[in-house]
Amino acid sequence: MEKRFENRSSLLLFFLKGSKRFFIACMIFGGLVAVLDLINPRIIAYTVDAVIGEEESNIPAFLEKIVSGLGGDAFFKTHLHIIALLILGVAGLAVVCRYFFRMFNARGGEKLVCNMRDTLYNHIIHLPVKWHNENQTGDIIQRCTSDVDTVRRFLSDQLTNLVRVVILIVMSIIFMLNINVKLAMIAISLVPVIIGYSLIFHQKIGSSFEKVDDMEGKLSAMVQENLSGVRVVRAFGRESYERERFGKANEKYCGMWIRLMQLLSFFWASGDLVSGTQVILVVAFGAAFCVNGQLTTGELIAFISYNAMLTWPVRSLGRVISEMSKAGISIDRIRYIMNSEEEKDTENAGETDMKGDICFNNVSFSYPLKDENKYTKVLDDVSFKISAGTTVGILGGTGSGKSTLIQLLDRLLELDEESEGAGRITIGEKDIRDIKREYLRKNIGIVLQEPYLFSGTLAENIAITADGIDMDKVRSASKVAALDEAIEKFTKGYETYVGERGVTLSGGQKQRTAIAQMLLRKPPIMVFDDSLSAVDAETDVKIRTALKERSKDTTTILIAHRISTLMHADNIIVLDHGKIVQQGTHDELVKQEGLYKKIYELQQPA
Ligand SMILES: Nc1ncnc2c1ncn2[C@@H]1O[C@H](COP(=O)(O)OP(=O)(O)O)[C@@H](O)[C@H]1O
Ligand SMILES: [Mg+2]
Repeated sequence: MEKRFENRSSLLLFFLKGSKRFFIACMIFGGLVAVLDLINPRIIAYTVDAVIGEEESNIPAFLEKIVSGLGGDAFFKTHLHIIALLILGVAGLAVVCRYFFRMFNARGGEKLVCNMRDTLYNHIIHLPVKWHNENQTGDIIQRCTSDVDTVRRFLSDQLTNLVRVVILIVMSIIFMLNINVKLAMIAISLVPVIIGYSLIFHQKIGSSFEKVDDMEGKLSAMVQENLSGVRVVRAFGRESYERERFGKANEKYCGMWIRLMQLLSFFWASGDLVSGTQVILVVAFGAAFCVNGQLTTGELIAFISYNAMLTWPVRSLGRVISEMSKAGISIDRIRYIMNSEEEKDTENAGETDMKGDICFNNVSFSYPLKDENKYTKVLDDVSFKISAGTTVGILGGTGSGKSTLIQLLDRLLELDEESEGAGRITIGEKDIRDIKREYLRKNIGIVLQEPYLFSGTLAENIAITADGIDMDKVRSASKVAALDEAIEKFTKGYETYVGERGVTLSGGQKQRTAIAQMLLRKPPIMVFDDSLSAVDAETDVKIRTALKERSKDTTTILIAHRISTLMHADNIIVLDHGKIVQQGTHDELVKQEGLYKKIYELQQPA
């Protein structure tokens, strides 16, 4: 499989499209803040030494010229307020730069997150059903929220500070060397220790972060599963079991964080010790040098300021590295999604007349077993033909492969996945692999075994594939689906809110809503995957009779386990454990010894 994003940086650069300029602006202002911060200690040193004291002024040549033009150091003795204003001006300018730094930072960060979420969502909804079968929803959600946020935090909190940190480190070292080489050496000598220490440390905790992240994913997957299946949990009285399961996982997760935090606290505390030692050394030696006359008071003040400026960036360098390992793992987790291949049509994929015969030729299919290189065979050399405009019934026990057959026809599952499928399905003599997926799915209407209703009104759900809601059409489709009576009983009728936060429809009502949904589309091929299983026999007959009248030239596939549902089909296929065991019309099949006759006799009223 071709990987779109070979490494982390290629993915980051891809996501940074649109927000890069904000981050660059942010870095520039960050650099300006650093430069401005470096100015004031020098002004103070000059003031203490040359203006208040009697030392030689140690300022750059171009400033020396300006100062002597004004009347030398003596001028400032009488005009100290100018220096105060200067210091205030520099500090004020730094505030303005900080404002822009934060503003561009926030803009870049939000733009980045927005872009990442959009891209991920768009990618995920285009991933094949097979991918969704193999990945947990909760884990995917966690990758799209928590991991996205980690990446943003790394970029906007850490990486944008990098320019500022580097400028501060380099310039304060230069200024310190400029003030006093010996003292500067003492100050710098501990810097490699601090950096090296954090490097080693953060490499060690990288794997811990990965484990914690995985655990978080598992936890959200568990919550998501339990919330979606809340009725099952209640119905089976599994609350305490689920609570315990979650409690255990949660405890494990907390324990992981606590251990991680212990490590981090140890690091920060010992880091404090090292940098504290460094500060004490600088102050002690500086004071001694000052007494010796190797250093002026102003220089000592400036030196201590620069040393303080050095401590923060050096230590935050460790932080950058730590966040980098965390962000790296998050990027990898996002990269996994982005590198999963979207459904793509072949180059010569086209359209075909969907009012042609449908042929299954030697179709076999296996599902991969999780974590093993084994497959369970679900369909075994299945061949049959559905002539255009006829109705075929498929009868078979649960697990015989009926739904799989339909998912293959709709290309929700693919026949040519490595070692999982074989054979050919054609519509109007065209291999379905050469038909554009969107076109194919638009023209095959499937009422799924377990229909899903979106949050919205009933009318909205019925007209979900249409451009607008045409109430006449919605009504007539509901009538055929025998849904209208049920709807009339709701006080709000078609405006009844359904879905996750609305009225809960019964299984049969949901199935009928899905049937109405499909009827509105009038696709040339209609599939009912056990779609009448939850409606009573009487309604079943009513729906089928209405359907027959309405869709004379439609090719229909009726999947059922109730013989009365499909007995009037033009051809009936009997599936057993993935194999076709019988085929024929109802009259032919009841005369044969076999599964069909057995089921038929079982379903006869005694
Ligand atoms: N996504 C899947 N992964 C693994 N096995 C599956 C998957 N979906 C279905 N199966 C298995 O394949 C068999 C056939 O399933 P299905 O086609 O849904 O049967 P039917 O619709 O006839 O009840 C069943 O044994 C089922 O457990
Ligand atoms: Mg099924």
